Amino acid sequence: MCGIVGYVGHRDCSDVLVSALTRLEYRGYDSAGIAVFENDKINVAKSKGKLKDLVEKMKIEGKPDGFAGIGHTRWATHGEPSDINSHPHSGAKVTLVHNGIIENYKELKEFLENQGREFLSDTDTEVVAQLLDYYYSHINDPIRSIIETTQELKGSFALGIVFEDFPNKVFAVRRESPLIIGVGEDENFIASDVPAIIQYTKNYYLLEHDEIAVLSKNEGVRVFDSHYQIVSKELKTADWDVDAVGKCGYPHYMIKEINEQPTAIKNTVLPRIKDGMPCLDECNINPEVLRNIRNIYIVACGSAMHSGMVGKYVIEDIARTAVTVDIASEFRYRNPIIGKGDLIIIVSQSGETADSLAAMRLAKEKGAKTLAIVNAMGSTIAREADMLIYTHAGPEISVASTKAYMVQLSVMYLFAFELAFAKGQIDEEKYKYYTSKLLETPEMVEKVIAQTTEISQKISTKLLTADSLLYIGRGLDYALSMEGSLKLKEISYIHSESYAAGELKHGTISLITKDMPVIAVATQSALYEKTVSNIKEVKARGAKVIMICQEGNDVPKDIADYVLKIPNFEEILLPMLVCVPLQLIAYYTSVQKGNDVDQPRNLAKSVTVE
Ligand code: G6P
Repeated sequence: MCGIVGYVGHRDCSDVLVSALTRLEYRGYDSAGIAVFENDKINVAKSKGKLKDLVEKMKIEGKPDGFAGIGHTRWATHGEPSDINSHPHSGAKVTLVHNGIIENYKELKEFLENQGREFLSDTDTEVVAQLLDYYYSHINDPIRSIIETTQELKGSFALGIVFEDFPNKVFAVRRESPLIIGVGEDENFIASDVPAIIQYTKNYYLLEHDEIAVLSKNEGVRVFDSHYQIVSKELKTADWDVDAVGKCGYPHYMIKEINEQPTAIKNTVLPRIKDGMPCLDECNINPEVLRNIRNIYIVACGSAMHSGMVGKYVIEDIARTAVTVDIASEFRYRNPIIGKGDLIIIVSQSGETADSLAAMRLAKEKGAKTLAIVNAMGSTIAREADMLIYTHAGPEISVASTKAYMVQLSVMYLFAFELAFAKGQIDEEKYKYYTSKLLETPEMVEKVIAQTTEISQKISTKLLTADSLLYIGRGLDYALSMEGSLKLKEISYIHSESYAAGELKHGTISLITKDMPVIAVATQSALYEKTVSNIKEVKARGAKVIMICQEGNDVPKDIADYVLKIPNFEEILLPMLVCVPLQLIAYYTSVQKGNDVDQPRNLAKSVTVE
């Protein structure tokens, strides 16, 4: 979703802002803009479309020339994508960019209109700019007027602000929406996320709710709380470098990130193994805590929720503890029956997803314990959870999640094994055995990438003309195929559904027509024969079947047009292997359709609004 950047220093500000915004493109956007001090004047350039459209426009109309300013990529919420609705927005002396949603903007707009103020755009952001300008015109103190303004705002916001009377200073404030302050040598930055500034500095502060930062070149960064008191901040350092946010020779981030999965698993799993067994003590999780868990709820959105589906099958199977998987936007509004003794696991790559965060807060309010599985260090969900397991995927840039999903799976296993052992459902031998198998997965995933790339590419050519397809499977295969189907939808724009194979004949089989592709996942021995029967049913009705099974499986003649074989491995862990060809099929389909693989239309990487 919207990306914010800001800069003060010695470099060409417009160039820094555009380059930093380019690193936030992954968040998804439909317009972009910057505001830069040219001597004492704030010069704005903004445009509907992509950053390249903004750059083109600046080539024709002139690029704002200076050393301090703010920039923005907008993902439209209030008002269509247009030049006018693009950020920055201004009042008389104030110009700002905004990420988030102002829920009470209508009331505020009415108040401001009654004061004689006029609005150019349909956005909630312009209301904030005018409100801040209103307070500033009365108080004449930028920080105090920011405090007054934010006290009036309901909703979520991260704001980058410049005041005409304070050239070469950038102000920032946030509530709910993420914002970091990058600290360099004689230059400072604001950004929605660390990748935006990593090429300039690895050092940053996390801004807390309602804190206000003032950045300048020579005076550095000062942070105030909402009572105008100076706050001292802990300087953090990102532990990855520029390569982590570059394509490193790959044509797309998605394929780079698919290839990074073995390393991501190692980074996530290895530090949590002690004496051949998982040890999550540093995450505040110990056998005592685990033994007392009554019911588990896994609550998340998108791919993160799908990792929870796999988690449910695994935890219920080996730890014999009931797990409900919930979509966060449903959970938060359905008055869930949860309380003391229950554990809510919130899974999130970004740690900022609005619905997941709200679900976690609701669960806390109701007395449940919360465990966050999060990739982004220091994100809001990570900071507010009772227990926390970081996944170490590194920055994931492609909107379609691959390595983040993979490491979420690996953590589901770590957790399930430890829970099962703590609850006495598996003995030490089995516990160590499962752990040793999990430790083999990086190597296995690497092997699967090598073995399945070519066939996945071939299969994808067969999907190009399809209007719609089905993924079917049972048990773990069904849970996994939900993610396969989502991947394909997200980036190829081909409609697909994932269906429990046994449920087909209760309705969905009526959709099968000649040559409709069906991707059938059949890797679980106990369910193999059952799934094969379902495959026969769709084949008999003309489907083009792509079957994924284990090497050595006896595939009956004529039931599949393509058979993609996965190496034999511990079956409970097979989702970590099988998700690879599902990712590759989606990837190559998107590439061959000529789509924007890393930034699919209408999607945002980090959904920080409801
Ligand atoms: C967006 C992304 C998905 C992601 C979901 C949840 O929809 O496009 O890839 O799975 O949000 O995001 P989170 O950061 O909470 O994992």
